[in-house]
Amino acid sequence: QVAPPGTLVIFGGGGDLTKRLLMPAIYNLDCAGLLNEDFSIIVVDWAEMTSEGLISQFREAIDDFVNKRGTSATLLRHDIWNRLTQNISYLRGSFEEESTYDELNARIEGRNAVFYMAVAARFFGSIVDFLGSSGLAHESEDVYRRVIIEKPFGSDLESAKALNARMLRSLDETQIYRIDHYLGKETVQNIMALRFSNGFFEPLWNRQNIDHVQITAAETVGVEKRGRFYEGTGAIRDMVPNHLMQLLSMTAMEAPTSFEANAVRDEKAKVLSAIQPVKLDDVVRGQYVSGSFGIGDEAEALRGYREEPDIALGSQTETYVAMKLGIDNWRWAGVPFYLRTGKRLRRRKTEIAIHFKQAPYALFRDTPVEQLTPNIMVLHIQPTEGVTMQFSAKVPGPAVRLGGVRMKFDYSEWFSDGPSTGYETLIYDCLIGDQTLFQRADTIEGGWRIVQPALDRLAAEHSPLCFYPAGLDGPREADELLARTKRHWLPLS
Ligand code: BG6
Repeated sequence: QVAPPGTLVIFGGGGDLTKRLLMPAIYNLDCAGLLNEDFSIIVVDWAEMTSEGLISQFREAIDDFVNKRGTSATLLRHDIWNRLTQNISYLRGSFEEESTYDELNARIEGRNAVFYMAVAARFFGSIVDFLGSSGLAHESEDVYRRVIIEKPFGSDLESAKALNARMLRSLDETQIYRIDHYLGKETVQNIMALRFSNGFFEPLWNRQNIDHVQITAAETVGVEKRGRFYEGTGAIRDMVPNHLMQLLSMTAMEAPTSFEANAVRDEKAKVLSAIQPVKLDDVVRGQYVSGSFGIGDEAEALRGYREEPDIALGSQTETYVAMKLGIDNWRWAGVPFYLRTGKRLRRRKTEIAIHFKQAPYALFRDTPVEQLTPNIMVLHIQPTEGVTMQFSAKVPGPAVRLGGVRMKFDYSEWFSDGPSTGYETLIYDCLIGDQTLFQRADTIEGGWRIVQPALDRLAAEHSPLCFYPAGLDGPREADELLARTKRHWLPLS
């Protein structure tokens, strides 16, 4: 389905996000034939620049994208690129002056428009206010007006509520598309396909059969150039109420009655509301100190977090967090969900590991229980994409012995797909008005509600930070969190 005609207005479109992700995504959509011929882009930013200058910057970025990710199938398609760039224009203006919005009104009058906020979070509120007061947010029967906004969506429950309330003064919920870029990932979307289009997972997906669930988002990168932002944020705020809660809610939600946006989001909201707010005793916060990737001559030395640019010498910001959560509903009561995320870890790896209960092992009486291979189903989100199942099988030979084996589905072996940024689906869905993969106000607030009591206690009292060497698996205390109940994390290696 080709998207209807319209204009994408990118506030802050001169920045990195547009070059690295949005333009390649739009280009990919056009290559796939999903953009209307009458599609245009207006970039609004404050820098002195011409439309031609902007387009040549985009061209550099897109060449980079095509070359870096590409294989033989991905030479730049000049026909598409040329047509696309004919419809890109630049509007120089302040985000906080009426004249910018007057000019926009003149340029997009009578057209569908999506306003994309590629700006620092401090501008979100005022841009939306201006969209409201200038009439730009006003929809009619023939014309839609939508806003795309991406995290940080508040820095705690109160600020998230305030931002939602402020946006809802100028816009209707149906006009707001809150991006969590994890929902743009194919493998995250696949969680629902896997669970609800197959017969054999769902009957096992409950407290009778599942012992616990581990959700991991491990990164090898440090804070890079984002020190100033990260110092005031930390791993909990940066990853937990948003990305990890998305993974958790997709894993734990009930089947929606349809794939209609609100049916799906209702189920997500329901499961979030059943999660008990996390107790500080069930949270381990870590910070990386200097370490290395690899050992010996090949080792790459890594500095500690406090030595990174723009980080305070005695910083108490966590770069790692592990926590235990419980869901109070019939499906999940008593099944712990362990979450962990951190920077500068041994491997980049995002995955959801479903640990099934051990089989009653009467038949294999001689096999000590700890030698039975745990039954684990792992949904690999990135960088490998796929599913593995781990279980026991008989080792060949006359004696009855058991060994652990693995069955693997690898996305790339089954499906071939061109390079994508993850933003293609999200932008396209917004253009066609499908909110399924976007966060609703209540799911945003639901994520914050779960971590807020822990954040409050952290602000009020000194809570220990556990240090871990960069390049390894995170703090020892995170292992202890699971060891309390004789469980352990899947290794990162
Ligand atoms: C962002 C966080 O939202 O997600 C970053 O602000 C983090 O700190 C990133 O690195 C992780 O995204 P991905 O897609 O690399 O897993």
